[in-house]
Amino acid sequence: MKMKNLKVLAFIALGTFQFANAQKAPQLGKASVDEVINAMTPEEKAELLVGPGMPGYAGLVPLEGEPNVRVLGQAGGNEEVNRLGIPKTVFADGPAGLRIQPKRENNPNTYYATAFPVGTALASSWNTELIEEVGKAMGEEVKEYGVDVLLAPALNIHRNPLNGRNFEYYSEDPLVAGKIASAYVKGIQSHDVGTSIKHFAANNQETNRLSVNAHISERAMREIYLRGFEITVKESNPWTIMTAYNKINGVYASANEDLLTKVLRDEWGYKGLVMTDWFGGYPGFGSITAEGSVSDVVAQMEAGNDLLMPGTKNQKEALVKAIKEGKVDEAAIDRNLRNILNYILKTPTVAKYKYSDKPDLKAHAEVTRNAATEGMVLLKNDENALPFTNKKGTVAVFGDTSYDFIAGGTGSGDVNEAYTVSLIEGLANTGYTIDEDLQNAYVPYVKEATAKEMKRRQEEGGILASVQRLPEMPLAKDMVAEKAASSEVAVITIGRNAGEQHDRKIDNDFYLGQDEIKMINTVSDAFHAEGKKVIVILNIGGVIETASWKDKVDAVLLAWQAGQEGGNSVADVFSGAKNPSGKLTMTFPMDYNNEPSAANFPGVPANNPKEVFYEEGIYVGYRYFNTFNVKPSYEFGFGESYTSFEYSDLKLSETNFEDELEVSVKVKNTGKVAGKEVVEVYVSAPAKMVDKPAEELRAFGKTKLLKPGKSQKLKFTIKAKDLASFVDAKSAWIAEKGTYNLKVGASSLDIKLNKEFTLAKDITVEKVNNAFDLDTEMETLKN
Ligand code: BGC
Repeated sequence: MKMKNLKVLAFIALGTFQFANAQKAPQLGKASVDEVINAMTPEEKAELLVGPGMPGYAGLVPLEGEPNVRVLGQAGGNEEVNRLGIPKTVFADGPAGLRIQPKRENNPNTYYATAFPVGTALASSWNTELIEEVGKAMGEEVKEYGVDVLLAPALNIHRNPLNGRNFEYYSEDPLVAGKIASAYVKGIQSHDVGTSIKHFAANNQETNRLSVNAHISERAMREIYLRGFEITVKESNPWTIMTAYNKINGVYASANEDLLTKVLRDEWGYKGLVMTDWFGGYPGFGSITAEGSVSDVVAQMEAGNDLLMPGTKNQKEALVKAIKEGKVDEAAIDRNLRNILNYILKTPTVAKYKYSDKPDLKAHAEVTRNAATEGMVLLKNDENALPFTNKKGTVAVFGDTSYDFIAGGTGSGDVNEAYTVSLIEGLANTGYTIDEDLQNAYVPYVKEATAKEMKRRQEEGGILASVQRLPEMPLAKDMVAEKAASSEVAVITIGRNAGEQHDRKIDNDFYLGQDEIKMINTVSDAFHAEGKKVIVILNIGGVIETASWKDKVDAVLLAWQAGQEGGNSVADVFSGAKNPSGKLTMTFPMDYNNEPSAANFPGVPANNPKEVFYEEGIYVGYRYFNTFNVKPSYEFGFGESYTSFEYSDLKLSETNFEDELEVSVKVKNTGKVAGKEVVEVYVSAPAKMVDKPAEELRAFGKTKLLKPGKSQKLKFTIKAKDLASFVDAKSAWIAEKGTYNLKVGASSLDIKLNKEFTLAKDITVEKVNNAFDLDTEMETLKN
């Protein structure tokens, strides 16, 4: 045979061999997950366990060799391994809707997403059915824009009102947080796309969030900071979980075996995927750069953090080295790979779903408009100042924020919506006439002040910059007096915004600024002198001080950051088209220093906190205020209505608790307009084994829209776990024997009916592992 022919033959043989070899490599979806894992090289394993970098993320510098992204503005995703048929999938933020870039180069189409009410606003509805509907709408946008996982919901506990991200979170109470998050997850995942519940766990401040060491007792961890996650995992099975940045008792959450394996996997039985928060777990990591130092990849892998996001080159290199040198537990690596691959198999990407890029934004605008009204909390309504039905004269609208309504907070939780309806637009759309002189003065003032603030934020660091509110436009007394004479009513909006990386400040943020106090005083004096009402709208994401100024005005409507239809939603409540039925999911204290965590936030040393001591233990929010008799300005669970309700017929299925108690109560609308009522079930438990809060929320529900005179029977089930406290000395959840008092209330301080029942003997509901040992001595508050 000639040389040339030999070469041809060899070439064909080699080609066939390579072809056969490529064919032989097991393909994800065809071969089993274990076969795929067994075929992986160390490099391929690291490729999958560490994300591909942060591509095109909201203007931040992408990693070297950044791959093309499928959805512009996505926060990340897993890396692909082509040889084994493993595709990239797409993660995008959450939680107030889908966060992606609305415009793409050389492309006339737009990719706006709906800005829904922020987490706190949604939770304040206490309506899990409604939240599920919102989740469904969000899920449709996630799916139709080609995203696999929404990085949401966020359900950390409101430990302190200054946390810059409280707006993304739900409550100071873990039951509320868990039930709302479960409904949200169910809604989204009904579209066969995933969620990532975050930030697991105890991510309760933004100051030094990447490294702060939170010292927390095991009891507080289990009863307060983990319980909402536990409920969500067990009730809604989220596809993924995002670990928090902070340390818990000396160990990064992302490297915390107690958290990720002992509790999450072994005790709760979680089978999904665990990923880090973006660049989570870097020792001394201070700012987000492409490289950074390398996190302790081995500790993270072995603890049960499957995927490192968004992934850096040197994390990958460190992991390859550790695998090759046998310095990381192989079984842990394979377990993590299994979790990642099982997740990928569920995605629309693998199902080759043909997304439309055209979600039903019009329908979702209606969803958000309605949801926002249900989360609004009527804090005060003297002499039925609201609803304001007189559309004949003019409405005098004060406050910068009225003219530039805040749809949601800043940072990764911000959504790129097509528009935000301002308060004046909303009122005008509803048929009110807005005073023109005020409008002509405010609009240019706000425009200029906003441009200045945006420039400042840009210079400070873009989406992660601190947020300052606009100074209120100064008001001349005689001008306001003129407006009081010529208009029918005054509306004042107080606005606040905050976001990632920065906590809020005490002065001029938690407390109103002097400019705001002056505005309230000037407007109230003038309008009251004319016998006209003053209505305050709070367009805020977190708690502010209300005790010092609420008496000066007639009504206070807590509208929260109500999403893109905000102005329309407020107008719906203002006009009475909707009866507000939200209630507070957190306490509004009289004073910041009344907060149980005030002395321990954001930690020590004060100028650069490295550690924070959760000395208040389980006494967070109303658990503290009620137990230690500290009077709040507005208590947990509080909210008024345009109608009134009567509670009756409280019935318990038994007086001796065995393993379940059925509770029913009748709620009747005794007022003149239709309305919904949130009903709260608290339990006071015997406290011999361990100290306990005066009472704890153990169930809640909401009536349907009740017409005047109509009533509804609400039913609740109380299980042993709902009566149990965590007894550290026994590593167990125990419901103690003795007498329990079950209280049904309209708020945590407004108990309408109560009944006692007994437990004949202690019930050990669950024995668990010992976990979260303190890394330093700490005394926690006891009752
Ligand atoms: C935030 C997460 C977010 C992630 C990706 C982080 O800075 O803490 O909540 O999902 O970025 O954008």
